[in-house]
Amino acid sequence: MEDVVANAWQGRRVFLTGHTGFKGGWLALWLANKGAVVRGYALDPYTKDNLFTEARVGSVLEDIRGDIRDAAKLDAAMREFAPEVVFHLAAQPLVRYSYEDPIGTYETNVIGTARVLDAVRRTPTVRAVVSVTTDKCYENKETLRPYREDDPLGGYDPYSSSKACAEMVTAAYRQSFLAQRGVAVATARAGNVIGGGDWSTDRLIPDLVRGFLAREPVKIRRPQAIRPWQHVLEPLHGYILLAERLLTGDARYATAFNFGPGEADAQPVEWIAERMAEFWGGGAAWVLDADPGVHEAGYLKLDAGRARAELAWQPRLDLETALRWLVDWYKAWQSGAEMQSCTLGQIAMYERQQALR
Ligand SMILES: NC(=O)c1ccc[n+]([C@@H]2O[C@H](COP(=O)([O-])OP(=O)(O)OC[C@H]3O[C@@H](n4cnc5c(N)ncnc54)[C@H](O)[C@@H]3O)[C@@H](O)[C@H]2O)c1
Repeated sequence: MEDVVANAWQGRRVFLTGHTGFKGGWLALWLANKGAVVRGYALDPYTKDNLFTEARVGSVLEDIRGDIRDAAKLDAAMREFAPEVVFHLAAQPLVRYSYEDPIGTYETNVIGTARVLDAVRRTPTVRAVVSVTTDKCYENKETLRPYREDDPLGGYDPYSSSKACAEMVTAAYRQSFLAQRGVAVATARAGNVIGGGDWSTDRLIPDLVRGFLAREPVKIRRPQAIRPWQHVLEPLHGYILLAERLLTGDARYATAFNFGPGEADAQPVEWIAERMAEFWGGGAAWVLDADPGVHEAGYLKLDAGRARAELAWQPRLDLETALRWLVDWYKAWQSGAEMQSCTLGQIAMYERQQALR
């Protein structure tokens, strides 16, 4: 089941939004390594240190800088490239920032998604679209029952609700325009991802890494909050398998898929901080931040049964291994290693892993 189509990606033309970001950078390197011809479309990286620059992502794809809200530029960039597959990852992805800029968050995540799908509508070569949302798109009832793909959408904060809206926009485009043209469109919902090369503000792992590098104790909010964690390669593997199924033209796959971690990988923030400090060594430490900040939803668990049954996807890395890999990545970066080969090395190790559960 691993590769539904032999050499599924060799020479395949892929349009990827969000390639200058964390997940998009890893996905671009992975797809290009599989032989895909990739054009990326995104804004400039937000942070001085970033995966795009450090792993020289620009060397494996055609790098277009543009806003997904700019319809004319996006249309031209997609149509002229004539892709078969579109991965849509560009977004304003931060919950706390969405309280500072709710309108910008809705514009990018909702209207931007509509713009991407509208460009697909005018690009006759496209056969498959994977639109990335999040586990936060569900109406969080704060219960421990795992959420399935047909549970109600919702979202307390602007980010979460913008992603629920993106789900609805995608469903409407699928039903109104794309299905009848034979374009298979799916959405992918995953939770907190971790891995080397994330320098976002206001995320646990980058905050820990910045503090450890500066040899300062890291302030941690809500240490008891339980979150599901998974290595970035886990959902990306799901997105790739999903696109391969969409390319078969089987409409059953043109729907939503959850890609959640296993039960053992839902751990409190404190547990992650302790393990990270231990693996980092050299006296790395964290302290409690008394300010809990804005509302943060409680634990939301995904039921990934559909992805397991229909895509033969399952997590391959347990959380300790994922943390060791990310510490190795940042340590290699700190020591001046060549980060494209380091990143590709971790992708190769992932491909060799048997599922651990
Ligand atoms: N990182 C996580 O833990 C996580 C969890 C669930 C879902 N997601 C989703 O995965 C996707 C990628 O997230 P990430 O963590 O890599 O984020 P990131 O912030 O590292 O990257 C975001 C990317 O989107 C691009 N972008 C933002 N606004 C844009 C605009 N208006 N026009 C064009 N490009 C724009 C940025 O340039 C960047 O390339 C997002 O859709 C996010 O919501 C991420």
